[in-house]
Amino acid sequence: MRRRILVLATGGTIAGRQAAHGGYQAGQMAGQALLAQAGLENSGLHVEVEDIACVGSQDMSLAIWHRLAARILAAAAQGEVDGVVVAHGTDTLEETAFFLSRVLRLPFHVVLTGAMRPADAADADGPVNLRHAVLLAAEPAAGDGQVMVVFGGEIHAAQWVRKIAASSLRAFASPDAGPLGVVIGKDICWTPGMSAPHARCYALPVDAGSWPKVGILYAYAGMDCAQVQASLDLGWDGWVLAGMGNGNAPQACLAALADAARQGTVVVRSRRCLTGWVTRAAEVDDDAMGFVAAGLYDALQARTLLMLAMAETRERSVIQAHFL
Ligand code: SIN
Repeated sequence: MRRRILVLATGGTIAGRQAAHGGYQAGQMAGQALLAQAGLENSGLHVEVEDIACVGSQDMSLAIWHRLAARILAAAAQGEVDGVVVAHGTDTLEETAFFLSRVLRLPFHVVLTGAMRPADAADADGPVNLRHAVLLAAEPAAGDGQVMVVFGGEIHAAQWVRKIAASSLRAFASPDAGPLGVVIGKDICWTPGMSAPHARCYALPVDAGSWPKVGILYAYAGMDCAQVQASLDLGWDGWVLAGMGNGNAPQACLAALADAARQGTVVVRSRRCLTGWVTRAAEVDDDAMGFVAAGLYDALQARTLLMLAMAETRERSVIQAHFL
């Protein structure tokens, strides 16, 4: 039987068109038009397309995440497909990949991809990226139930993948681990000894409007505590610090965050560095200040993880266990 792949389109530069005045606009084409350019006619696969959204991924929202995850879960429940591809803008692709990896446990895998050049550019990279994504999603040997990203011929695990370049065609990498493999023509070649990590799976929150509100504070030399205080005054449920080095910030800012933690806000210390662990109570006394250390999760991942964790519990020690 032909393997059945469902492509879910969400917009992005892969669906972008060049503008008359120069530049381009993301999210201008439906999924069917993208598939028509991907050169999959003789692949022997049964490929169907649906449009979940048509946005530049700077406008990716919790509501679209919810729709996307719910559609994939429904396809799994009905046994409709053998693999799913998500065509996505590159700007927030790593966030969506990480989110999906935490709310899906599936008998098939999900592969995200996008493009750095609009679909009608002479050097458009969307068609080959989409072709690779469909081939990978149809590959029985790829780890079932994993969420992966394929881009520029490289395969990355949702846990490790980062957008590392604002304009290069090789825009994604896995700086903490390296790629899972590469796609060469029709061949999927796995890096020996590399596999996507299995992680805790969360229930998909009932509706996007009910998710805990969590923001990110980016630390920098001379950071003014007034900015931190103004953010805390919003009364949100949690904050992630994209801290210097091992999750640090100026003393006054840490004091303001500790004060908020004492009043019930959950504060997670993560990093602004590209790689590495934020360890508990190394430079900052997490026990005294009431903070959670993010471990290997960068600030974007920590924000998503904190939202999902806080939908289950507000107990700080339990939330800490979700991170380490
Ligand atoms: C977007 O993220 O939607 C725009 C940029 C891109 O896809 O490369």
